[in-house]
Amino acid sequence: MKALVLAGGHGTRLRPITHTSAKQLVPIGNKPVLFYGLDAIRAAGIQDVGIIVGDTADEVRRAVGDGSRFGLRVTYIPQEAPLGLAHAVLIAREFLGDDDFVMYLGDNFIVDGVRGIVEDFRRSRPDAHILLTRVDDPTRFGVAELDETGRLVGVAEKPERPRSDLAIVGVYLFTPAIHEAVRTIKPGDRGELEITTAIGRLLERGADVRSHVITGYWKDTGRVEDMLECNRLVLETLEPYNHGVLDDATEIAGRVVIEEGARVTGSRLVGPLVVGAGATVRDTYVGPFTSIGPGCTLTDTELEFSIVMERSSVIGVRRIRDSLIGKDVEIKPAISTPQAHRFVLGDHSRVRVA
Ligand code: G1P
Repeated sequence: MKALVLAGGHGTRLRPITHTSAKQLVPIGNKPVLFYGLDAIRAAGIQDVGIIVGDTADEVRRAVGDGSRFGLRVTYIPQEAPLGLAHAVLIAREFLGDDDFVMYLGDNFIVDGVRGIVEDFRRSRPDAHILLTRVDDPTRFGVAELDETGRLVGVAEKPERPRSDLAIVGVYLFTPAIHEAVRTIKPGDRGELEITTAIGRLLERGADVRSHVITGYWKDTGRVEDMLECNRLVLETLEPYNHGVLDDATEIAGRVVIEEGARVTGSRLVGPLVVGAGATVRDTYVGPFTSIGPGCTLTDTELEFSIVMERSSVIGVRRIRDSLIGKDVEIKPAISTPQAHRFVLGDHSRVRVA
């Protein structure tokens, strides 16, 4: 069995973060969301992984390399434009050969991994198997329709009038039966070859497509709250350790991870939280559910329930919470009097001023 991981696309829903970064590399608990997927694939006993890459190919390649550090053999498959998930299957035909495969969307996060799911599929081997989860707003997803016995009878991509609240999760299990289906479909409303349409095609032809409902699922829907919530879930499972340097004036409570070379002085850290490699934290309060990226500088500030990405600095500003702060960001007080806010913000930035 192989895996096909999708790491292309534009990530418009997570702007401005994705103006400069691949959405699959957004960190959750200081680890790119894509890496959780790769680890889950490896844990399911799969080694051969094709990664579909687009505009952000270089960044993805730099992060994942040849896959050996995940115990994987990675083949990169360039997609010239985001033409859809079924298009990704089309262009991966040679890599996939006649193997069964799990297709994993690199911006999806499944709390319990996919090991059990893959084992079941290997054992029962239906033509395809999809995962579903209950959501508040099914119009943002592929949606499944089940009959009264719980059998999958239909699927629709982002329907205006969804027939259920069961969203299709971005992890699919396929036999080679999918290849014929993706070859025969036409682009949908957003001009892409939708995998949902191909699954619908299998159903129409009477193929055995099964589904089951999972919990513990997350995907970016452009809502910062969702990312912070996912970060919270991950931090709750942290095994605390300290590979950095703390002074005596620093107080620690709860599950706290301090990565290599981080320095913390005169501060109070209340976990769960992680302070990234080489970060400097001075005279600062860091509260629960916070990920501080590598190389960040926090001085004389208070911060909680937030994600701060690498090399950003927050100096002399409090109190910050529920925030998602990108890379190389600088936050500090304006020096002018009378007091005024001064901003240099990228396109699609969102600011809430107290
Ligand atoms: C894609 C699929 C959709 C699925 C979703 C899960 O949507 O088209 O059916 O529910 O992934 O992440 P997209 O992220 O391309 O909008």
